[in-house]
Amino acid sequence: MSRVALVTGGSRGIGAAISQTLKDAGYTVAATYAGNDEAAAKFTESTGIKTYKWNVGDYDESKAGIEQVEADLGPIDVVVANAGITRDAPFHKMTPQQWKEVIDTNLTGVFNTVHPVWPGMRERKFGRIIVISSINGQKGQFAQVNYAATKAGDLGIVKSLAQEGARAGITANAICPGYIATEMVMAIPEKVRDSIVAGIPAGRLGEPEEIARCVAFLASDDAGFINGSTISANGAQFFV
Ligand code: CAA
Repeated sequence: MSRVALVTGGSRGIGAAISQTLKDAGYTVAATYAGNDEAAAKFTESTGIKTYKWNVGDYDESKAGIEQVEADLGPIDVVVANAGITRDAPFHKMTPQQWKEVIDTNLTGVFNTVHPVWPGMRERKFGRIIVISSINGQKGQFAQVNYAATKAGDLGIVKSLAQEGARAGITANAICPGYIATEMVMAIPEKVRDSIVAGIPAGRLGEPEEIARCVAFLASDDAGFINGSTISANGAQFFV
Protein backbone atom coordinates (compact mmCIF):
# COMPACT_ATOMS: atom_id res chain seq x y z
CA MET A 1 0.00 0.00 0.00
CA SER A 2 1.26 3.46 -0.80
CA ARG A 3 2.17 5.82 2.03
CA VAL A 4 -0.13 8.72 2.78
CA ALA A 5 1.23 12.28 2.74
CA LEU A 6 -0.50 15.41 4.02
CA VAL A 7 0.68 18.72 2.54
CA THR A 8 -0.71 21.86 4.12
CA GLY A 9 -1.08 24.77 1.74
CA GLY A 10 -0.67 22.06 -0.85
CA SER A 11 -2.69 23.41 -3.75
CA ARG A 12 -0.64 26.49 -4.66
CA GLY A 13 2.98 27.66 -4.86
CA ILE A 14 5.68 25.49 -3.35
CA GLY A 15 2.98 23.30 -1.76
CA ALA A 16 1.46 22.39 -5.12
CA ALA A 17 4.85 21.28 -6.42
CA ILE A 18 5.37 19.21 -3.26
CA SER A 19 1.96 17.54 -3.62
CA GLN A 20 2.61 16.69 -7.27
CA THR A 21 6.15 15.44 -6.67
CA LEU A 22 5.03 13.18 -3.81
CA LYS A 23 2.18 11.84 -5.94
CA ASP A 24 4.64 11.12 -8.76
CA ALA A 25 6.82 9.28 -6.21
CA GLY A 26 3.91 6.98 -5.38
CA TYR A 27 2.36 8.59 -2.28
CA THR A 28 -1.34 9.04 -1.77
CA VAL A 29 -1.51 12.80 -1.21
CA ALA A 30 -3.98 15.04 0.62
CA ALA A 31 -3.47 18.76 0.06
CA THR A 32 -5.03 21.35 2.32
CA TYR A 33 -5.94 24.92 1.49
CA ALA A 34 -7.36 27.78 3.51
CA GLY A 35 -9.64 29.79 1.28
CA ASN A 36 -9.07 29.77 -2.47
CA ASP A 37 -11.76 27.26 -3.58
CA GLU A 38 -11.24 28.01 -7.25
CA ALA A 39 -7.50 27.31 -7.18
CA ALA A 40 -8.10 24.13 -5.18
CA ALA A 41 -10.75 22.86 -7.61
CA LYS A 42 -8.46 23.56 -10.57
CA PHE A 43 -5.60 21.82 -8.79
CA THR A 44 -7.66 18.69 -8.11
CA GLU A 45 -8.95 18.67 -11.66
CA SER A 46 -5.48 18.83 -13.18
CA THR A 47 -3.65 16.55 -10.73
CA GLY A 48 -6.27 14.17 -9.30
CA ILE A 49 -5.01 15.10 -5.81
CA LYS A 50 -7.74 15.41 -3.19
CA THR A 51 -7.94 18.78 -1.44
CA TYR A 52 -9.31 19.58 2.02
CA LYS A 53 -10.23 23.01 3.33
CA TRP A 54 -9.33 24.05 6.83
CA ASN A 55 -7.56 26.79 8.73
CA VAL A 56 -4.26 25.42 10.03
CA GLY A 57 -4.30 28.15 12.68
CA ASP A 58 -7.30 26.51 14.37
CA TYR A 59 -6.55 23.37 16.40
CA ASP A 60 -10.04 21.89 16.36
CA GLU A 61 -10.43 22.41 12.61
CA SER A 62 -7.03 20.84 11.98
CA LYS A 63 -7.78 17.83 14.16
CA ALA A 64 -11.16 17.25 12.52
CA GLY A 65 -9.66 17.71 9.05
CA ILE A 66 -6.87 15.25 9.76
CA GLU A 67 -9.39 12.70 11.07
CA GLN A 68 -11.30 13.08 7.80
CA VAL A 69 -8.14 12.60 5.71
CA GLU A 70 -7.26 9.47 7.67
CA ALA A 71 -10.81 8.12 7.30
CA ASP A 72 -10.62 8.70 3.53
CA LEU A 73 -7.04 7.70 2.76
CA GLY A 74 -5.61 5.84 5.76
CA PRO A 75 -3.10 6.78 8.47
CA ILE A 76 -0.84 9.71 7.60
CA ASP A 77 2.82 8.69 7.25
CA VAL A 78 4.28 11.98 5.99
CA VAL A 79 3.37 15.48 7.10
CA VAL A 80 4.61 18.46 5.14
CA ALA A 81 3.85 21.60 7.14
CA ASN A 82 4.06 24.09 4.32
CA ALA A 83 1.14 26.48 4.78
CA GLY A 84 2.41 29.99 5.29
CA ILE A 85 1.47 33.62 4.80
CA THR A 86 3.22 36.98 4.83
CA ARG A 87 2.00 40.23 6.31
CA ASP A 88 5.10 42.30 5.63
CA ALA A 89 5.58 45.73 7.19
CA PRO A 90 8.49 47.62 8.71
CA PHE A 91 8.35 46.99 12.47
CA HIS A 92 7.28 50.54 13.32
CA LYS A 93 4.23 50.01 11.11
CA MET A 94 3.51 46.36 11.95
CA THR A 95 0.17 45.93 13.69
CA PRO A 96 -0.63 43.39 16.42
CA GLN A 97 -3.07 41.89 13.90
CA GLN A 98 -0.27 41.35 11.33
CA TRP A 99 1.85 39.76 14.04
CA LYS A 100 -0.98 37.47 15.19
CA GLU A 101 -2.09 36.32 11.74
CA VAL A 102 1.40 35.22 10.81
CA ILE A 103 2.09 33.54 14.16
CA ASP A 104 -1.26 31.70 14.04
CA THR A 105 -0.79 30.35 10.52
CA ASN A 106 2.95 29.81 10.22
CA LEU A 107 3.91 28.73 13.73
CA THR A 108 0.85 27.56 15.64
CA GLY A 109 -0.22 26.00 12.33
CA VAL A 110 2.76 23.64 12.54
CA PHE A 111 1.78 22.56 16.04
CA ASN A 112 -1.83 22.09 14.95
CA THR A 113 -0.80 19.98 11.96
CA VAL A 114 1.74 17.74 13.64
CA HIS A 115 0.14 17.24 17.06
CA PRO A 116 -2.91 15.25 15.87
CA VAL A 117 -0.81 12.83 13.75
CA TRP A 118 2.00 12.34 16.27
CA PRO A 119 0.38 9.63 18.48
CA GLY A 120 -0.40 7.46 15.42
CA MET A 121 3.13 7.82 14.08
CA ARG A 122 4.53 6.82 17.49
CA GLU A 123 2.28 3.77 17.58
CA ARG A 124 3.14 2.68 14.04
CA LYS A 125 6.85 3.41 14.59
CA PHE A 126 7.16 5.42 11.42
CA GLY A 127 6.75 9.05 10.48
CA ARG A 128 8.21 11.87 8.47
CA ILE A 129 7.69 15.48 9.53
CA ILE A 130 8.97 18.05 7.08
CA VAL A 131 8.51 21.73 7.90
CA ILE A 132 8.96 24.38 5.23
CA SER A 133 10.84 27.17 6.97
CA SER A 134 12.64 29.97 5.08
CA ILE A 135 15.96 31.66 4.47
CA ASN A 136 14.37 34.56 6.34
CA GLY A 137 14.10 32.45 9.47
CA GLN A 138 17.86 31.98 9.25
CA LYS A 139 18.95 35.54 8.45
CA GLY A 140 15.98 37.75 9.38
CA GLN A 141 14.44 40.12 6.84
CA PHE A 142 13.52 43.79 6.68
CA ALA A 143 9.72 44.09 7.14
CA GLN A 144 9.37 40.49 8.35
CA VAL A 145 9.75 40.49 12.13
CA ASN A 146 6.59 38.37 12.30
CA TYR A 147 7.45 35.97 9.47
CA ALA A 148 11.12 35.56 10.45
CA ALA A 149 10.06 34.76 14.03
CA THR A 150 7.84 31.94 12.82
CA LYS A 151 10.38 30.54 10.40
CA ALA A 152 13.11 30.56 13.06
CA GLY A 153 10.58 28.91 15.38
CA ASP A 154 10.16 26.09 12.85
CA LEU A 155 13.82 25.18 13.33
CA GLY A 156 13.32 24.86 17.08
CA ILE A 157 10.26 22.70 16.49
CA VAL A 158 12.02 20.17 14.27
CA LYS A 159 15.13 19.97 16.46
CA SER A 160 12.92 19.16 19.45
CA LEU A 161 10.59 16.77 17.62
CA ALA A 162 13.63 14.97 16.20
CA GLN A 163 14.80 14.12 19.69
CA GLU A 164 11.35 13.00 20.80
CA GLY A 165 10.57 10.94 17.69
CA ALA A 166 13.91 9.30 16.93
CA ARG A 167 13.31 6.12 18.96
CA ALA A 168 9.86 5.77 17.39
CA GLY A 169 11.15 5.86 13.83
CA ILE A 170 9.96 9.41 13.25
CA THR A 171 12.18 12.03 11.66
CA ALA A 172 11.56 15.78 11.71
CA ASN A 173 13.47 18.09 9.41
CA ALA A 174 13.18 21.58 7.99
CA ILE A 175 13.82 22.99 4.56
CA CYS A 176 14.77 26.64 4.24
CA PRO A 177 13.91 27.79 0.74
CA GLY A 178 15.42 31.00 -0.50
CA TYR A 179 13.41 33.21 -2.84
CA ILE A 180 11.30 30.92 -5.03
CA ALA A 181 9.21 31.93 -8.05
CA THR A 182 5.78 31.85 -6.43
CA GLU A 183 2.91 34.31 -6.01
CA MET A 184 4.29 35.21 -2.57
CA VAL A 185 7.60 36.42 -4.00
CA MET A 186 5.96 37.97 -7.06
CA ALA A 187 3.90 40.11 -4.64
CA ILE A 188 7.08 41.92 -3.52
CA PRO A 189 7.31 45.33 -5.23
CA GLU A 190 9.24 44.83 -8.48
CA LYS A 191 12.11 47.17 -7.59
CA VAL A 192 12.64 45.46 -4.24
CA ARG A 193 12.41 42.03 -5.87
CA ASP A 194 14.99 42.98 -8.51
CA SER A 195 17.42 44.01 -5.79
CA ILE A 196 16.81 40.72 -3.96
CA VAL A 197 17.48 38.68 -7.11
CA ALA A 198 20.64 40.71 -7.71
CA GLY A 199 21.85 39.42 -4.32
CA ILE A 200 21.38 35.75 -5.21
CA PRO A 201 24.65 34.32 -6.55
CA ALA A 202 22.70 31.85 -8.70
CA GLY A 203 21.31 34.90 -10.50
CA ARG A 204 17.73 33.65 -10.44
CA LEU A 205 14.79 32.73 -8.25
CA GLY A 206 14.42 29.08 -7.30
CA GLU A 207 11.75 26.86 -8.80
CA PRO A 208 9.07 25.25 -6.57
CA GLU A 209 10.12 21.81 -7.86
CA GLU A 210 13.62 22.39 -6.49
CA ILE A 211 12.10 22.50 -3.00
CA ALA A 212 9.69 19.64 -3.72
CA ARG A 213 12.58 17.33 -4.59
CA CYS A 214 14.19 18.06 -1.19
CA VAL A 215 10.89 17.09 0.44
CA ALA A 216 10.69 13.83 -1.51
CA PHE A 217 14.18 12.92 -0.37
CA LEU A 218 13.51 13.70 3.31
CA ALA A 219 10.29 11.66 3.12
CA SER A 220 12.06 8.62 1.68
CA ASP A 221 13.45 5.62 3.56
CA ASP A 222 16.90 6.68 2.34
CA ALA A 223 16.72 9.72 4.63
CA GLY A 224 16.00 7.71 7.80
CA PHE A 225 19.12 8.85 9.67
CA ILE A 226 18.64 12.54 8.80
CA ASN A 227 16.79 13.94 11.78
CA GLY A 228 16.59 17.46 13.19
CA SER A 229 18.38 18.86 10.14
CA THR A 230 17.89 21.94 8.07
CA ILE A 231 18.38 21.83 4.30
CA SER A 232 19.04 25.25 2.81
CA ALA A 233 18.05 25.67 -0.83
CA ASN A 234 18.73 29.28 -1.70
CA GLY A 235 21.08 29.58 -4.67
CA ALA A 236 24.00 30.47 -2.35
CA GLN A 237 22.25 33.60 -1.05
CA PHE A 238 22.99 32.81 2.60
CA PHE A 239 25.05 30.31 4.59
CA VAL A 240 24.35 29.37 8.19
N1 CAA B 1 16.31 46.63 3.18
C1 CAA B 1 16.50 47.91 3.54
N2 CAA B 1 15.57 48.86 3.33
C2 CAA B 1 14.43 48.50 2.74
C3 CAA B 1 14.17 47.18 2.33
C4 CAA B 1 15.19 46.25 2.56
N3 CAA B 1 15.04 44.97 2.18
N4 CAA B 1 12.95 47.15 1.79
C5 CAA B 1 12.45 48.39 1.84
N5 CAA B 1 13.36 49.21 2.40
C6 CAA B 1 13.23 50.63 2.65
C7 CAA B 1 12.55 51.36 1.52
O1 CAA B 1 13.47 51.65 0.49
C8 CAA B 1 12.02 52.59 2.23
O2 CAA B 1 13.09 53.49 2.43
P1 CAA B 1 12.89 55.08 2.22
O3 CAA B 1 11.80 55.45 3.17
O4 CAA B 1 14.22 55.65 2.56
O5 CAA B 1 12.51 55.20 0.78
C9 CAA B 1 11.66 52.04 3.62
O6 CAA B 1 12.42 50.84 3.77
C10 CAA B 1 10.23 51.58 3.79
O7 CAA B 1 9.44 52.30 3.00
P2 CAA B 1 7.87 52.41 3.23
O8 CAA B 1 7.59 53.16 4.47
O9 CAA B 1 7.31 52.93 1.96
O10 CAA B 1 7.47 50.91 3.49
P3 CAA B 1 6.08 50.26 3.32
O11 CAA B 1 5.31 50.44 4.58
O12 CAA B 1 5.42 50.69 2.06
O13 CAA B 1 6.51 48.76 3.21
C11 CAA B 1 7.62 46.86 2.24
C12 CAA B 1 7.13 48.30 2.03
C13 CAA B 1 6.50 46.00 2.80
C14 CAA B 1 8.78 46.84 3.20
C15 CAA B 1 8.02 46.40 0.83
O14 CAA B 1 9.18 47.11 0.46
C16 CAA B 1 8.33 44.93 0.76
O15 CAA B 1 7.43 44.11 0.56
N6 CAA B 1 9.60 44.55 0.91
C17 CAA B 1 10.02 43.16 0.74
C18 CAA B 1 10.07 42.41 2.04
C19 CAA B 1 10.48 41.00 1.74
O16 CAA B 1 11.55 40.73 1.25
N7 CAA B 1 9.58 40.03 2.00
C20 CAA B 1 9.83 38.69 1.64
C21 CAA B 1 8.60 38.14 0.99
S1 CAA B 1 8.89 36.57 0.19
C22 CAA B 1 8.90 35.49 1.42
O17 CAA B 1 8.70 35.77 2.56
C23 CAA B 1 9.21 34.07 1.03
C24 CAA B 1 10.42 33.59 1.67
O18 CAA B 1 10.36 32.82 2.61
C25 CAA B 1 11.74 33.99 1.14
